[in-house]
Amino acid sequence: MATLLLSSHLAAAAYSSTTSASARPAPRFVSFRSTAPKGGRRVLASSVQPSSPPPAPAAAQPFRSMAPSETTVLVTGATGYIGRFVVRELLRRGHPVVAVARSRSGLRGRNGPEEVVADLAPARVVFSDVTDADALLADLSSQGPIHAAVCCLASRGGGVQDSWRVDYRATLHTLQAARGLGAAHFVLLSAVCVQKPLLEFQRAKLKFEDELAAEAARDPSFTYSIVRPTAFFKSLGGQVETVKNGQPYVMFGDGKLCACKPISEEDLAAFIADCIFDEGKANKILPIGGPGKALTPLEQGEMLFRLLGREPKFIKVPIQIMDAVIWVLDGLAKVFPGLEDAAEFGKIGRYYASESMLVLDPETGEYSDEKTPSYGNDTLEQFFERVIREGMAGQELGEQTIF
Ligand SMILES: NC(=O)c1ccc[n+]([C@@H]2O[C@H](COP(=O)([O-])OP(=O)(O)OC[C@H]3O[C@@H](n4cnc5c(N)ncnc54)[C@H](OP(=O)(O)O)[C@@H]3O)[C@@H](O)[C@H]2O)c1
Repeated sequence: MATLLLSSHLAAAAYSSTTSASARPAPRFVSFRSTAPKGGRRVLASSVQPSSPPPAPAAAQPFRSMAPSETTVLVTGATGYIGRFVVRELLRRGHPVVAVARSRSGLRGRNGPEEVVADLAPARVVFSDVTDADALLADLSSQGPIHAAVCCLASRGGGVQDSWRVDYRATLHTLQAARGLGAAHFVLLSAVCVQKPLLEFQRAKLKFEDELAAEAARDPSFTYSIVRPTAFFKSLGGQVETVKNGQPYVMFGDGKLCACKPISEEDLAAFIADCIFDEGKANKILPIGGPGKALTPLEQGEMLFRLLGREPKFIKVPIQIMDAVIWVLDGLAKVFPGLEDAAEFGKIGRYYASESMLVLDPETGEYSDEKTPSYGNDTLEQFFERVIREGMAGQELGEQTIF
């Protein structure tokens, strides 16, 4: 079900290429609250301002006047869809990169340490556990100083507990370790959809965003950039091969319930890398989409048929079907807690089928194509052409095939 929902829209523990600490030093950073309450919170209507007024970016951040080759960047989530490209882009710009990975990484742990080291070379790969704050700091302790950090961590499934474990706590551990090693700037890969938080992973991300802004407010020599992208290409390519094989394009409602400005991995990685030195991106929430206008599922389907030289053929699924499924799963989850994640996956699918991945205009309360900034060069059309030619390798969705 989840596939259908989204296809329409969307070494050893201490192994390290260079090092791995055996002793665990006591943390040297300020202490952060690490509770993870569930429940709703405010809706950031504009998505361009953090909840508390940010301080002016610190003038006295020595790393900003240093050469990339002297500025070491820590990357967690380095083995993910976006994280891999961020590592590559930072290396291309000349930064020394310390990339954190687990001993089995990638989708369903398909990659071992040697593959990760080769993929991320010449980054220094440190194998550690981001879900354990002390272990992470200890394993990174010999890698300092760190000047800036980029966190691309995300729950691979979007389940309730895993979202809090990864999108909140492991992300917080990255901040704590980075600060402990001297980082003066932190770039968070978030998501534009957190503007309207109805899902656990969104609430977990927002809680961390708040704590990140609070840390910058507390210490003016520390800054952050919160990057909130729209849809990734991988979330929109799921139907290319089925349509190529003669199947209809499946969409919800009239295919105009939502829209997005898709951005490629390379373009987003370049935007994230810009955040390291660009003072204009410090202490800001930065929604970002790819080039061109926003596209609805109907327009994406029409584009696909045009590229294939075929007559458009659509299946329109009533969105109410998803509401019924979610209602049943929610009810069952109250009796059988083991179904909590199944209900959550249904809600994620419903969300992406009906909510636009665009900036919410605070004045109108509507999603706005114009107010969603564009960046980069890669278009969805080019991506579709590539998938038609070469298939979806490298664009696979996560464990629940929902994002
Ligand atoms: N899909 C979209 O269209 C879209 C749009 C806007 C924003 N976003 C946001 O972009 C972010 C990143 O997405 P992505 O597609 O790059 O994610 P991804 O490919 O699923 O990568 C997730 C990264 O987090 C790591 N990770 C997950 N659970 C972990 C754990 N328990 N311990 C250690 N590491 C763990 C993964 O490591 P392993 O390789 O070891 O698993 C991987 O490096 C997400 O926050 C998402 O919400 C997505």
